[in-house]
Amino acid sequence: MRPERCVVAVDGPSGSGKSTVSRRLATAIDGIYLDTGAMYRAITWAVLQSGADLSDVDTVVKIAMETDLSIGTDPQAPHFEANGVDVDAAIRGPEVTGAVSAVAAIPQVRAMLVQFQQDIISGAPRIVVEGRDIASVVAPNADLKVYLTASAAARAQRRSAEDATDVVATEADLARRDQLDSSRAADPLRQASDATTLDTTGMGIDEVVTQLLSMLNSKVSP
Ligand code: DC
Repeated sequence: MRPERCVVAVDGPSGSGKSTVSRRLATAIDGIYLDTGAMYRAITWAVLQSGADLSDVDTVVKIAMETDLSIGTDPQAPHFEANGVDVDAAIRGPEVTGAVSAVAAIPQVRAMLVQFQQDIISGAPRIVVEGRDIASVVAPNADLKVYLTASAAARAQRRSAEDATDVVATEADLARRDQLDSSRAADPLRQASDATTLDTTGMGIDEVVTQLLSMLNSKVSP
């Protein structure tokens, strides 16, 4: 299945399987993949590198504006650079993970990244975009809008297996980030009214991707 043009929005909380599913889906439709969480993470990395105080919003915004981001969109191997530095590993580390919700809550940072995301989307024939506000803010005209979710235990189990971390600590960290991401004033994590929810608890990755492909098939003609 390879539609001529399509935008797929995949939103959901941390650990819901968004990344794996989105990358597989993008590959299946011969499209590109945009990990918007990685963009917030790369900006957070640059802020931490600078030594700035995270609560100093003006300085954080200034650093965000000055950061030169290179965002890879190959679903097989998305590669990110900030100010010319390879940040693929660092943006998944505990320092960035602990600080990213605070940076992602700043409206000016969001406005800048949303514009960047929309530019990438408009230049792509087929794209799968994952994040928290894709269906509601970034791509409200997406052809398919999916809200992926899974039980807290399933999400923690997946994340701890990926990151080789303790499952109890991971569940607590996911709950903390979900709370911050859902309660912030600017573009909080929420399900768009026209998005289809898919609870992936107990579902295998192939099953999820097959289901999304068939949903996409019914929305866009190849
Ligand atoms: O999906 P992730 O864990 O890599 O996201 C990192 C952080 O960025 C998380 O705290 C939510 C936030 N985020 C956001 O606010 N909006 C997005 N579109 C994507 C991620």
